[in-house]
Amino acid sequence: MTELEHKQDRAPVPKDWTYAPAPESTDIVSIRGRYGLFINNEWIAPSESYTTLAPRDEEPLAEIGQANEQDVASAVGAARGAFENGWSAVPGSERAKYLFRIARILQERSREFAVLESLNGGKPIKESRDVDLPLAAAHFFYYAGWADKLEYAFPNRTPKPVGVAGQIIPWNFPLLMLAWKIAPALACGNTVVLKPAETTPLTALLFCDVVRQAELPPGVINIVTGDGRTGAALVDNPGVDKIAFTGSTEVGKAIQRRLAGTGKKLTLELGGKAANIVFDDSALDQAVEGIVNGIYFNQGHVCCAGSRLFAQESIAEPLIEKLKRRLETLRVGDPLDKNTDVGAINSRMQLEKIEELVQAGKDEGAEIYQPPCVLPEKGYWFAPTVFTNVAQSYRIAQEEIFGPVLSVLTFRTPEEAVEKANNTPYGLSAGVWTEKGSRILWMVQRMRAGVVWANTFNRFDPTSPFGGYKESGFGREGGRHGLEPYLTFDE
Ligand code: NAI
Ligand code: MG
Repeated sequence: MTELEHKQDRAPVPKDWTYAPAPESTDIVSIRGRYGLFINNEWIAPSESYTTLAPRDEEPLAEIGQANEQDVASAVGAARGAFENGWSAVPGSERAKYLFRIARILQERSREFAVLESLNGGKPIKESRDVDLPLAAAHFFYYAGWADKLEYAFPNRTPKPVGVAGQIIPWNFPLLMLAWKIAPALACGNTVVLKPAETTPLTALLFCDVVRQAELPPGVINIVTGDGRTGAALVDNPGVDKIAFTGSTEVGKAIQRRLAGTGKKLTLELGGKAANIVFDDSALDQAVEGIVNGIYFNQGHVCCAGSRLFAQESIAEPLIEKLKRRLETLRVGDPLDKNTDVGAINSRMQLEKIEELVQAGKDEGAEIYQPPCVLPEKGYWFAPTVFTNVAQSYRIAQEEIFGPVLSVLTFRTPEEAVEKANNTPYGLSAGVWTEKGSRILWMVQRMRAGVVWANTFNRFDPTSPFGGYKESGFGREGGRHGLEPYLTFDE
């Protein structure tokens, strides 16, 4: 029993707020020892394979196929066959039924998916359960609604499917990114070959079960696993009509170079270094919650993470104090514990990248703060981190860290905030905190970012288009805008 504290005549309260472990059971998931490639609704044995791990303790979870060029070609062939022999002629109202079915099955099986997502990716179960899964289902519901209304979405134009979409996704939101890619593609009448990230293939492979359960015709959705080589084979395959990529700016640029002159359509959703701007008239406690959600949500493995905090000088000190105090209450640990706020770093490679950039921050002269917390011995972990005294030129203010690391900078006037916030090669998102509506509008017009949140952060909705400016990529996902990359028009 926890010790109690008695104060005057008030009810006694616990002296410390340490939580007892509340682990989510993993019994609901059955992981197979080995997975094949999902082509034409069949499991195809790969010629090579690798092991996927649980980042919380480095335990091996399953053997995963490493698809080679021939495997990719047969997946693309299956998708082409399905497109030409039926799927492209299926009426929109019928396609919608499949998407509604997928959405409902995801809801029914959401606990199973959430547990698997946290096990394979390291994100806290409360996030996979309350964010990733509901949003993935919502995305399928939303695009199901568009499938029979395309001519109303684009009046006086004749929308037609593109054909075979090759889709390459990252490891930070494995199932949600799958939903962002597959739902609009199918709603528009395309077939797909999707490649999950090498460290997080398991929920995409479980999704193959959903594809069969929903009775999608063979070849409409094909999943090929493997690393960057598999992705490159998909990009280069001449049978692919469109590539949709989410990942690093470096790989995005390489893909764009390879596709130049091929006539394939392309959308890129790449990195970010978002500014979260707090004015002196904002509700500071509320802003602190937004800052924490902005950078520590999903261990900071978020392309639109609020990784640069701009505090107006007059409130910088109290804001940083409040923020540090709030960090002390974050619980870092087992992703499958329901009380965990910050889970495991996705991979050793990502952990090393975070460590390198944090070292650079210290070397360049920034001041580091980490709340006291005990990190587990096995697995990949990084404590929530705040850097103050950061200059604009420091690497930690310029480069995407993709970890739970915040760089705090200051400003005096709104003009200065705009200049500093836009001083980045990226432009995916931004946040503005102020009680003044007119200032929100003034700021939003000047931010070179695809999404600007006001008095909130990291809020997603399938009806709202998402995408970048500058080196954060091009093309939009979500909303009516998200249909366009998957359509061609006779004009
Ligand atoms: P990455 O860009 O290498 O991986 C993303 C996806 O692209 C994976 O499925 C990967 O297998 C595939 N891929 C890799 N090389 C490819 C190639 N040549 N052709 C086609 N596909 C290829 O990202 P990585 O290495 O996992 O992470 C590096 C950094 O990238 C992170 O530290 C982070 O800063 C950033 N990143 C940004 C993401 C975002 O959502 N914008 C997501 C993941 C990483
Ligand atoms: Mg890479």
